Amino acid sequence: MTDNHFAVTPTVIIAYHSGFGHTARLAEAVAAGAAAAGADVTTLAVDEITDTDWATLDSADAIIFGTPTYMGNVSAGFQAFTEKTGRRCIEGTWRDKVAAGFTNSGGKSGDKLNTLVSLAVFAAQHHMHWVSLGLPPGWNHSLSSEADLNRLGFFLGAGAQTDVDVDPDGVHPSDVETCRHLGGRVAMVARQVRVGRELTAAVSSPAASSEPVH
Ligand SMILES: Cc1cc2nc3c(=O)[nH]c(=O)nc-3n(C[C@H](O)[C@H](O)[C@H](O)COP(=O)(O)O)c2cc1C
Repeated sequence: MTDNHFAVTPTVIIAYHSGFGHTARLAEAVAAGAAAAGADVTTLAVDEITDTDWATLDSADAIIFGTPTYMGNVSAGFQAFTEKTGRRCIEGTWRDKVAAGFTNSGGKSGDKLNTLVSLAVFAAQHHMHWVSLGLPPGWNHSLSSEADLNRLGFFLGAGAQTDVDVDPDGVHPSDVETCRHLGGRVAMVARQVRVGRELTAAVSSPAASSEPVH
């Protein structure tokens, strides 16, 4: 067991798909937030995934999933990735890892909530622990503005909006900061889970086991 729990460095993976670079820009922000919170961070494009990348995912404390919203749901590129995880789902390879998600769309709403729900269901199928965004809704009163964190008012994960004719460099600064926040929050929770797991294992209580109770 680690004596100094503050020294625990959680591993956080950002596993994302991006057709045109906007979600990739957000993935960078999530990664920066997690790294600033002390995590060991890897960013993986799921449409270029290698055997080494799968091993990296399997050993992570936390995986943050990112996808553009296409046709009101995750992109086909992201969905193809999820369908490659079937064996891991059955075998419980990602069981009890920390999970969270972010998405980006062209429309202000764009049906992004449906995408975040799909990501949360995917995580639940893997028996992962879903982490919410953890921010109040921004831009929701007369003195607020679109510069607010969480300007689009999501709770389940981070939701971003990028005008369809704008380059990835033009992703909204508030959305970038919101994604950075999500990365930091997941790193914090992943550290808490790691430390808690070590402590419960140390006291050898029945609850220390991560095996499912039948
Ligand atoms: C096939 C396709 C479907 C899309 N469907 C939606 C949608 O349902 N809602 C929406 O608001 N934007 C939609 N968009 C716009 C994208 O979400 C938006 O351009 C986003 O920034 C793309 O992210 P990316 O650059 O990471 O691929 C769609 C774009 C494409 C190419």
